[in-house]
Amino acid sequence: MSISSDAPLSHRRLRQNSHIRELTREVRVSAEQFVQPLFVIEGITEKQAVPGLNAVYRETTASLIAQVEADLAAGISKFLLFGVPEAKALHNFDFSFLSTQVHALKQHFGQGIWLAVDVCLCSSTEHGHCGVLNNDGDHVLNGDTVTALSNAAVSYAAAGADCVAPSDMMDGRVAAIRDALDSAGLERTVIMSYSAKFHSGFYGPFRLAADSSPAPDNRLTDRSSYQIDPARPNDALLSSARDADEGADILMVKPGLPYLDVLSDLSAEIPLPWAVYQTSGECAALELLAREQLADRAQSNLETWTAFVRAGASIIISYNARFAPEWLSSKP
Ligand code: PBG
Ligand code: ZN
Repeated sequence: MSISSDAPLSHRRLRQNSHIRELTREVRVSAEQFVQPLFVIEGITEKQAVPGLNAVYRETTASLIAQVEADLAAGISKFLLFGVPEAKALHNFDFSFLSTQVHALKQHFGQGIWLAVDVCLCSSTEHGHCGVLNNDGDHVLNGDTVTALSNAAVSYAAAGADCVAPSDMMDGRVAAIRDALDSAGLERTVIMSYSAKFHSGFYGPFRLAADSSPAPDNRLTDRSSYQIDPARPNDALLSSARDADEGADILMVKPGLPYLDVLSDLSAEIPLPWAVYQTSGECAALELLAREQLADRAQSNLETWTAFVRAGASIIISYNARFAPEWLSSKP
């Protein structure tokens, strides 16, 4: 009788089946970690699909509530809301549209949802920049922008936002927002700062959804004078440490996959909770692969999310968050 031998096995012993793989995993991705971005647009009468993304819409005020209901049923309860007002301005912005939406969501869902609201001006400005421009149109004015952002944050928080998330990249905005919130009796509102947000080519679908591209006839053509240069990880570290000092409760790296090294280094260095933003361009890239049948949607997203957790993220903001419970429960 011959004994068939398969020696030598060493590391493959723990890869044999899903049971042992589950038991030996070092990091776990859980549906609890996900935040779903939402867009609500003033003045549209039907919801519109965002180009390139999987089941992400520019919502009407009515479809917004229905989408959150569907997401809750799918197991997602944390959201990041972006609002697009109909009227654009150069200064003296009106934050009432988004504040009203926040109020409506919290009236409807109460503590059943955790609602973060993006705080920026790019969906409100005529030129599409994240702040107020100087007269020459070649510089975003820091002080005037921070004042407007603080007003926006107080307005959203007063309407019931659990968290405000400044994404503008001005200096000193976290301290100014914390101060304004505290002065308004809103000391429980969390600040999640986009502290390490890079000047990236992975924001394309978002800018269509949020109507926030810098206008082509601007003197200042892009956001490189306020977002972080991709070759400046030390800027990301210093800006994040600064935001932590100014009172940010949660820090963020954005985009995700191209800046995994930054996420890994910064989360090891600064002991605050870290969020990572899988941006619209990153999600669209995976979506294109899936549509061409060149990758499996669930597998490619799960692999990406595992990388985020490995690199130190506790919060994952993703346009595919609403699929996370389903995809995580069917993991191979
Ligand atoms: C700007 C903002 C951006 C995103 C959210 N808020 C980037 C930008 O337009 O520069 C990106 C989100 C994404 O691509 O998913 N305040
Ligand atoms: Zn902006």
